[in-house]
Amino acid sequence: MHPSFSTGPRAAVESLGASRIREVANAGMGRADVLPFWFGEPDQVTPAFIRDAAKAALDAGDTFYTHNLGVPALRETLAAYSSRLHRAADINQIAVTSSGVSALMLVAQLLLNPGDRVVAVTPLWPNLLEIPKILGAEVATVGLDFKLELAQPVWELDIARLLAALTPKTKMLLLNSPNNPTGWTITRAQQQILLAHCRQHGIWLVADDVYERLVYDQPAGGLHCAPSFLDLAEADERVVSANSFSKAWMMTGWRLGWMQVPPMLMDGLGKLIEYNTSCAPGFVQRAGIVAIEQGEENLRQTVARYQAARDFLVEQLASPRFREAGIIAPRPHGAMYLFFRVEGETDSLNLCKRLVAEAGLGLAPGSAFGAEGEGAIRWCFAHSIDKLQQGLDRLAHFLAQRQVLQ
Ligand SMILES: Cc1ncc(COP(=O)(O)O)c(C=O)c1O
Repeated sequence: MHPSFSTGPRAAVESLGASRIREVANAGMGRADVLPFWFGEPDQVTPAFIRDAAKAALDAGDTFYTHNLGVPALRETLAAYSSRLHRAADINQIAVTSSGVSALMLVAQLLLNPGDRVVAVTPLWPNLLEIPKILGAEVATVGLDFKLELAQPVWELDIARLLAALTPKTKMLLLNSPNNPTGWTITRAQQQILLAHCRQHGIWLVADDVYERLVYDQPAGGLHCAPSFLDLAEADERVVSANSFSKAWMMTGWRLGWMQVPPMLMDGLGKLIEYNTSCAPGFVQRAGIVAIEQGEENLRQTVARYQAARDFLVEQLASPRFREAGIIAPRPHGAMYLFFRVEGETDSLNLCKRLVAEAGLGLAPGSAFGAEGEGAIRWCFAHSIDKLQQGLDRLAHFLAQRQVLQ
C-alpha cells in the first residue's frame, strides 16, 4: 500500500473515548429481563398531542427540506419561549438543530481551532467532553467536590478553582446545569462571577441547558427554570445556549434541538448546518411548535412525577439495607438522575456490567463521566415507582449476595 494511504480514521478520532454507558448497555440491550435505567430517557412515549401534530404535518405533505436555520414559525415560537423564561430574544438568535448533541457539535465546529483550550466542569455527560476533541481542541476539567460532611451530601463547585482554570488563553467554558449526571445546578451568584470573568478574557461561555426545565422543590405556580446565563447576558455577547426537545418534552427519538447564539454567528451557523444535516425534518419541527405552545401542563406533570420518583429512590437508598452496603445518595435538585456513591468501589464499569449480567439491572458507570465519577453509579429516575421498586429489589439482592461472597 502507498505509505500516504491512511489505514484508519485520523488520530483525533482514533483517540476518542468510547461511551462506557454504551459499553454496559450493549451488553444487555435486547435482553427482555433487564430493567434499563442506563440512558437519560423516560419509560413513556412522547405525549399524544405532540405525536398527533407530527402525523398531521406528514399528512399535510410536510416531507421536504426546510430552511437551514429551521422553519420561521418554530424559530419565532422558540424566541418567544426564551423571552418568557429569560431576557427578550428574537428570531435572529435562534437556530433549530437536529438534536441537542448536534447543537453542541455545531458550536464546537463554529468556534474551536485545533489546540484551543476548553474548560469543562465534571462529572459530565461524556459527549460534552469528547466533542471538542474531534475538532482538535484540548479539554481541561475542573471537578465538582463531593461534600459528605453536610447533613445532606452534595456536589459543589469550587468557583475559585474554576476561575484559576479559566486562563486568559482559554477559548471556551462548557457548563451543563442542571448537570448530567449529578444534578448539580449553578447558582445565580456563581453565574455572575463566571460571566464577568469570561467577559474580561473574551472566553466563550457555552451553556448546555437541556435540563433547565427539569428542576425540583420549586414554589407552586409560574414557569420553573434553572438559573440561566440567558437571564444575564446581552444578545451580542459570547454566550451560547444549547437546548433540546428530548428531555422536557420526552422526544429523545425525534432528534430535535435548538441553540441561542449572538446574531453574528448566524451566517456561519447556517453554513455549518447545511453541511452537517442541511435542516431538521419539517414535520418534526411542526411537532416542536405544538410541544412548546401547548406543553406547559404536561411538563408540570412530568416534573411532579420525576420529583416523586427522585424522592422515592433517595429515601429507599437511605434505608439500612443500602446504607449498610455503603450507598450514599445525594438528592439532586435538577435533571433526572441519581448519582450515588458505593463506598469502597473503585471499578464502577465492572460493577455495572455485573449488575446487568447477574441482576438484570441496567445502570450507568460513574467513570463514564470523568475521574470524579469513579465509585459512583448513575440511575435515571424518569420511570414509574413500580419499575424503580423492582430495580431496588434487584440491587439489594445483588449487594446482599456480594457481601456473603466477600
Ligand atoms: C447534558 C446533555 N446535553 C445534551 C444532551 C443531548 O440530548 P439530545 O441529543 O437527545 O437532544 C443530553 C442527552 O442525554 C445530555 O444529557
